Amino acid sequence: MCGIVGYVGREQAAPILLEGLSRLEYRGYDSAGVCVFDGGKLQVAKTKGRLKSLYDLIDGGKAIPGTVGIGHTRWATHGAPSDENSHPHMADSGKIAVVHNGIIENYLELKDYLQKQGKKFHSETDTEVVANLIEHFYDGGCTFRQAVQRAVARVEGSYALGVLCRDCPDTVIGVKKDSPLIFGYGQGCNYIASDVPAILKYTRDVVYLNDGDLLEMTADRVDFYNVHGEPLEKDTEHITWELSAAEKGGYAHFMLKEIHEQPKAVRDTIHPRIRDGRVVLDDIQLPAAYLAQLKRIYIVACGSAYYVGVHGKYIIENLCRVPVEPVLASEFRYADPVLDGTTLVVIISQSGETADTLAALREAKRRGARVLAVVNVVGSSIAKAADDVLYTWAGPEIAVATTKAFSTQLAVMYLLALYIAQELHTLPEDRRRELLEALVRLPEQLEEILSPESIARIQYFASQYFNNRDVFFIGRNIDSATCLEGSLKLKEIAYIHSEAYPAGELKHGPISLIENGTLVVAVATNPALFDKTMSNVKEVSARGADVLGITIQGFEDAIHKTMDSAIFVPRTEVLFQPSMSVLPLQTFAYYVALMRGCDVDKPRNLAKSVTVE
Ligand code: G6P
Repeated sequence: MCGIVGYVGREQAAPILLEGLSRLEYRGYDSAGVCVFDGGKLQVAKTKGRLKSLYDLIDGGKAIPGTVGIGHTRWATHGAPSDENSHPHMADSGKIAVVHNGIIENYLELKDYLQKQGKKFHSETDTEVVANLIEHFYDGGCTFRQAVQRAVARVEGSYALGVLCRDCPDTVIGVKKDSPLIFGYGQGCNYIASDVPAILKYTRDVVYLNDGDLLEMTADRVDFYNVHGEPLEKDTEHITWELSAAEKGGYAHFMLKEIHEQPKAVRDTIHPRIRDGRVVLDDIQLPAAYLAQLKRIYIVACGSAYYVGVHGKYIIENLCRVPVEPVLASEFRYADPVLDGTTLVVIISQSGETADTLAALREAKRRGARVLAVVNVVGSSIAKAADDVLYTWAGPEIAVATTKAFSTQLAVMYLLALYIAQELHTLPEDRRRELLEALVRLPEQLEEILSPESIARIQYFASQYFNNRDVFFIGRNIDSATCLEGSLKLKEIAYIHSEAYPAGELKHGPISLIENGTLVVAVATNPALFDKTMSNVKEVSARGADVLGITIQGFEDAIHKTMDSAIFVPRTEVLFQPSMSVLPLQTFAYYVALMRGCDVDKPRNLAKSVTVE
């Protein structure tokens, strides 16, 4: 959600900004713009729509020469996606230009104050208020840096800001609170960005800013300051992964590439944590004495990560006998949750920046619960704020709709459950070992699902059903959790109305929506519940539904008694079966979206990293 890039150096800034912004497209946006110092003037170019429109508008950057600039991709919050509301925003007298990611909650109050001071506004955004507030303090006699510092002290809400001042043509200022911003060291140049891929082509040495940190950079130096304006020493991190990890590498879409990366991502997440027949989570502090007094575990997250939490309930309760409650992060904070030292709150987030999730984390800590975060992005806000972090080693995930991060989060649920079970001795030793062995085999089995033959089969089913208007996903027990994710994928990228229900629940209401040709995807991977789910399949078939089954190998004959179309996945432990089922569901959604002509990697209205509440 909103991407920021800033550059100061000796090269032409605009092409570097455009290139950086293209690496942030995954965050979701609906307009884009840049501001470059051009012969002492702050030159702004911005437009609604894709980056290509901005690229064309400024002739790939040639139209606005200059070696210092800031760029932005905007995901609209205050005001529709339009040229006027796009960033950068100039202050009224043209001395300050700002790009912003986040939301200024008290912007109306500040706007009112600034209007009374004679400032005119030209957009509906909250960001324009920040530009004017900085200019207001600057005109009042502050230096550029002091003006930014005083302005952010007056602002309530979240922000990552890149700021230029007309009178300081060699300087870019960056500052952040609750939205991500990094600094990158170049050779005779420096960068700021919302995320590493934006600048990885130019530098691997980055500094992650903490909330309240401000930086002032020129081509040859950078200074960091804390919220009180005192100088700060910041540690530099060296990025070891390759840019190719954030490129398509021959695949048509990031989503397809990331689907195929799942066996490796799951292997990287699981294997290093299983040693000598035990789960070793040496990066976290959850000793047996702490676990033994636990009364409840909350799993708190948004979107697909929340659905991992729904799976987590089945997995952890089954293996550890501790009550688990998955809660949507946007609800958790306001639900007055019962929390104390006997509650563990597990926060799941790919980006580590989701505003609702971060707010829930803070609430949990405020109420005295211990917080364990399951995060993919190292150094993200959630990783920093949690008591313990278990990283998913999925690598950069670029497609808006998550695939490999989901699978690695699920893998962490298995590891966590087996770790707790091991520490609390809730499983017989031979059963615990059996489960561990199954877990180790999982990546190999995932590879099988992604074989060209099995992908071709999924593609075939996509071609049969891509025109459906309504789709229902049904399953029992943990399969019902997987249905939630399958349904979300279809909504997110193929824009098909779809719903997920525990199979037994359909007859209590939603079955009234089944008509001739409605597609029902039935996930039935638990042998003990197979016949029950098939009864529900018969109920919908009798009402005209087309049914596509997802079941385990070995159940070919059984399923063909009830339906013609089915996808067979390798068999593993019932609790691990979702890892197998979700791959065909993701792939099915991918091909359906493709056949419907949708923008698979950048679905409408969605953002990868949702940094507003
Ligand atoms: C957005 C994305 C979803 C994602 C959710 C949580 O809504 O579009 O795909 O599941 O955020 O993101 P997180 O980074 O916290 O896992």
